[in-house]
Amino acid sequence: MISKARWRTVISVVACLLALWAAGSWPRFADAAQAAALDVPTPYLPSTRLDVEELLRVAAIGPQDVVVDLGSGDGRIVIAAAKHFGARGFGVDIDEKLVALANENAREAGVSDRARFYHRDIFATDLREATVVTMYLLSSLVNRLRPKLLAELRPGTRIVAHDYGFDGWKPDRTVVITKTFYLYVVPAQVAGKWRLETTLPEGERSYEFELNQQLQEIRGGARVPGGYLPLFEARLAGDRISFVIVDGQRSYHFDGRVTGSLMEGTVKSGIGNAQVENRWRATRILHASSLSDLAFDRLLTAKPPADFECAPIINHSCLPKRTRAGQK
Ligand SMILES: C[S@@+](CC[C@H](N)C(=O)[O-])C[C@H]1O[C@@H](n2cnc3c(N)ncnc32)[C@H](O)[C@@H]1O
Repeated sequence: MISKARWRTVISVVACLLALWAAGSWPRFADAAQAAALDVPTPYLPSTRLDVEELLRVAAIGPQDVVVDLGSGDGRIVIAAAKHFGARGFGVDIDEKLVALANENAREAGVSDRARFYHRDIFATDLREATVVTMYLLSSLVNRLRPKLLAELRPGTRIVAHDYGFDGWKPDRTVVITKTFYLYVVPAQVAGKWRLETTLPEGERSYEFELNQQLQEIRGGARVPGGYLPLFEARLAGDRISFVIVDGQRSYHFDGRVTGSLMEGTVKSGIGNAQVENRWRATRILHASSLSDLAFDRLLTAKPPADFECAPIINHSCLPKRTRAGQK
């Protein structure tokens, strides 16, 4: 026998598909560009069972996660995360009937203590608790949501967008399995000036370095007496940061975690059985926002001293002349 809840799902899906068909938009939403221009509200179109599985796989859900589905429809994403991964979470939707259906579905699935649904606009939803945010929304809404997500979500929070990603934010991963899933990891705010202290095999060392940031893309360099050492291979993934400093004839590989105005981690030098590992720590001495963009850019693009040479085009690939000469 088919339950009342199932019938209601079937009826609302059929009604939605008919509406989309009437609007000439089947099998996808209305043309994305057209919808973005018109700022059409995202209609209800449930993810398929396959979509839900792939989306949760991309998000790498675990029992410790708090999953928030923005525009949760009949609740299938948060319910699956609770049922199959032991996660908890909630969903919000502007359609009151769908919210009631989602809560009923959660009860039926035996996860109503871990999956809740609220009748609420996405923009009025507090997202700070989330470790994973999922959304299947039209581009116009996705892009309007970006500042809210970046302001409220903690570094390391995963965002998985089904079919419609952010303009101008390079996904950390794109997975195409019949549909497209974009994974974004919320980056820590690291732009500014930092003082790093460590003990290297050669003794105590301290660097003052600057970081410029465009979402998860970072670049920068360290000023040392009489020199400028670019940060090579600088990467930011959530709250994990890594970079390489070449000082003299050695490379130092820094790996660490960012917590507000503190970075801590390990630095490795040498290879194989000659590798040495030490701890490092950096504190922020200047927040990028305390400088105008122009001043900060000038700080970073300041010419390296005369005994350094930079590879053409790549502004920050500067090495002491003696190092390049030694490499020949
Ligand atoms: C395409 S459906 C996705 C449903 C569900 N997440 C899934 O993947 O099966 C989009 C949902 O977003 C809801 N929605 C659209 N704009 C919203 C807003 N501003 N606030 C809350 N919900 C919204 C719609 O009512 C609809 O149920």
